[in-house]
Amino acid sequence: MEDRKTPPQKSHGRKTIRATLKPRELMEQTPDLARVWKAQVITLLPEAFPGILGQSLTGRALKDGLWQLVTVALRQFGEGKHRNVDDTPAGGGAGMVLRPDIMASAIDHARPRIAPQAPLIYLSPRGRPFTQAMAKALAAGPGVSMICGRFEGLDQRVIDHYRITEVSLGDFVLTGGEIAAQAMIDATVRLLPGVLGNEASTEEESFSDGLLEHPQYTRPAEWRGMGIPPVLMSGHHGEISKWRQAQSKELTRERRPDLWSAWQALHDQTD
Ligand SMILES: C[S@@+](CC[C@H](N)C(=O)[O-])C[C@H]1O[C@@H](n2cnc3c(N)ncnc32)[C@H](O)[C@@H]1O
Repeated sequence: MEDRKTPPQKSHGRKTIRATLKPRELMEQTPDLARVWKAQVITLLPEAFPGILGQSLTGRALKDGLWQLVTVALRQFGEGKHRNVDDTPAGGGAGMVLRPDIMASAIDHARPRIAPQAPLIYLSPRGRPFTQAMAKALAAGPGVSMICGRFEGLDQRVIDHYRITEVSLGDFVLTGGEIAAQAMIDATVRLLPGVLGNEASTEEESFSDGLLEHPQYTRPAEWRGMGIPPVLMSGHHGEISKWRQAQSKELTRERRPDLWSAWQALHDQTD
């Protein structure tokens, strides 16, 4: 649903959502679900949502009212005939910068429409790198407000004034914050109760205990001359568990020395 400048909206129970809704309609037809985890996204491209979040398990959960997605179109707060939201960088240089007054209007519109404990995040390559721990913390709260930048980004004064937390998807530069927002919302929503069919599946995956996940195999038992490690076919759950833990440690040590050191420090181990 797109939050427009002139609500009001009524609160609807979860069960009022029709199973036939298309992904964008899911956003339009689910105003203010009570006590449901909410992602609120301030963006110049509201039509980019729900995007991938409307598919598969996250899409099903959106349809079932297990979480809610609301976009706030930045353009509607723009100035003049062309609803301008940006201006040239002070001090010169390439590109355009999102104006603080325009973004402030969008934030002032959005924040009263989400629980005050929900963090306000600006997707930014300069931010703290997003992690599984952050996804867990977000999933444990009432929701999140996200600001998607475009062009050269957001005027620093609005970041300072609202004490916005900058969070990065990784050490690369995207054209805008929308892909980062969708990635972070996806990582968070799948941790909400009931979103994944098998809840245990988030407990054993990569990062959940500070290690990368062990290798996975499935049928056929033999493929292009390669078999499945015999222990996995043994039916000995204790042995399988030991093998998986050993593989997880080995992979993490090899591929992610940073995670490995942290895991060792936590478990007070030197091997
Ligand atoms: C072209 S980028 C601006 C980059 C900025 N001039 C810089 O060098 O840090 C436009 C917008 O994309 C988003 N963005 C780009 N890379 C990102 C990343 N790694 N993580 C999160 N958001 C990102 C931010 O919202 C940013 O304001």
